[in-house]
Amino acid sequence: MHKVVAPTRLVGMAGSLRKDSYSRAVLLGLQDALAVSARLEICDLRLPLYNEDEDGPAAPDDVRAFRNAIAASDGAVIVTPEYNHGIPGVLKNALDWASRPFGQSALIGKPVLVMSISPAFTGGVRAQAQVNETLLAIQARIVSGAQIVIGGITDKVRDGTLVDESCLRFARAGLDRLVAMSRSDHPSQRQSAWPEKVGAHATDYKATHNGKAM
Ligand SMILES: Cc1cc2nc3c(=O)[nH]c(=O)nc-3n(C[C@H](O)[C@H](O)[C@H](O)COP(=O)(O)O)c2cc1C
Repeated sequence: MHKVVAPTRLVGMAGSLRKDSYSRAVLLGLQDALAVSARLEICDLRLPLYNEDEDGPAAPDDVRAFRNAIAASDGAVIVTPEYNHGIPGVLKNALDWASRPFGQSALIGKPVLVMSISPAFTGGVRAQAQVNETLLAIQARIVSGAQIVIGGITDKVRDGTLVDESCLRFARAGLDRLVAMSRSDHPSQRQSAWPEKVGAHATDYKATHNGKAM
């Protein structure tokens, strides 16, 4: 008898809203290259600017959908460009939304694979370091192993998709590590039912921080 294994559900985030974004092209290339046992859904990061006044149970619909997509996934893949030696605002904004409610973020314990791209040979490595730093603060589980840094990206994309074979192979190996990590049992993964608890946000925050805003 064969055991039926549910496909691994991954969410992808591109740190650029540009129509012909190379970051998105990498996600699209990976979508094509994925094994049948995994699916990658690309999230829309066109979210409002983070405002704590608008957060909580009545957070904007797009934000709630984004958080729910992360919560329902087994892991996330982030592909970021580098803006002025750092993380693009679009991605930082999305991660800030995803980081709340405090202590109940859908990213807590979630395996996340980070990649960076650039037309330059530096491959966005400084932005990638900053994304990892943010994920550490959120308590996501960063997928370790060889850093996936894709320089000279303009020569590696055709028709809006990553086609460079060696880059695809290297990135696929990262995805395999992500899938393996998502299948390993981790206690914090069992907290994934946060959307039902969204009303507890304000109380939990005050209890944890003694009523003081950070
Ligand atoms: C505001 C801005 C700042 C940038 N700063 C950097 C940088 O610091 N390092 C770098 O390698 N590329 C930098 N670039 C070039 C981006 O890496 C390049 O435009 C990339 O293709 C953007 O990602 P996308 O194709 O996913 O939109 C910058 C681009 C913009 C628009």
